[in-house]
Amino acid sequence: MVSKKLMVIVEDVHREFTLGDHIVQALRGVSMEIYEGEFVVVLGPSGSGKTTLLNQIGGIDSPTKGTVTIKGDEITKWKAGELGYYRRHNVGWIFQFFNLIPSLRAWENTGLALEFSGDRKDLKERACKMLEAVGLGDKVDRFPSQLSGGEQQRVAIARALVKNPSIVVADEPTGNLDFITGQKIANLMNHLNKTFGGTYIVVSHDLSITEKADRVFHLRDGRIESVEDHS
Ligand SMILES: Nc1ncnc2c1ncn2[C@@H]1O[C@H](COP(=O)(O)OP(=O)(O)O)[C@@H](O)[C@H]1O
Ligand SMILES: [Mg+2]
Repeated sequence: MVSKKLMVIVEDVHREFTLGDHIVQALRGVSMEIYEGEFVVVLGPSGSGKTTLLNQIGGIDSPTKGTVTIKGDEITKWKAGELGYYRRHNVGWIFQFFNLIPSLRAWENTGLALEFSGDRKDLKERACKMLEAVGLGDKVDRFPSQLSGGEQQRVAIARALVKNPSIVVADEPTGNLDFITGQKIANLMNHLNKTFGGTYIVVSHDLSITEKADRVFHLRDGRIESVEDHS
């Protein structure tokens, strides 16, 4: 359920990258507000600034100008240590290429997120429970090479969610999956958002993700061009 509490406020965010004597303006004044529990999609052509925007919200990168506020805290004022804490405890990341560790079993990959947040209590039990929630209850001992692409992405989703993050950030989570598998992952993310709550910010061109989103932000040349409201 979407409450009307603000979770993320992005205010006039600019991000410039300097490459030699060339300046790339990846974000040129992005402002957006995202509510607690919302499932939001960011759409836009390649190079429009989608990943750069996620990185500002996820505390991986900081803007050249402008502010990002999460649950009332202006994270763009924070020092590296506070940002690190925020990333480890509050943000769950899902990537296009899953980024699992090949030598770790599904439950160990999932448990890594708990290791990093220093929250090892009942680690295996919690990891296995989360794997069950993503439909992999019978495959917790498999290595990534023993899982299909869709199943590997399910492990990555379990890893993102096991620490119960308030924000889930996904960068083209179905971009490396076939259509049917992508649809299943889209449905799963939607279901998890409804079941466990959490605010989802998902970069995706996948129709099965965008049509279920509460809102879709269209990004072009580092600016928000339009917003579709489905809620
Ligand atoms: N670390 C970086 N250094 C230099 N340029 C970058 C960097 N990250 C992104 N860019 C540039 O910023 C623009 C937006 O990139 P990005 O956010 O990755 O776009 P998208 O995810 O929409 O494809 C692109 O022109 C890209 O080349
Ligand atoms: Mg990108």
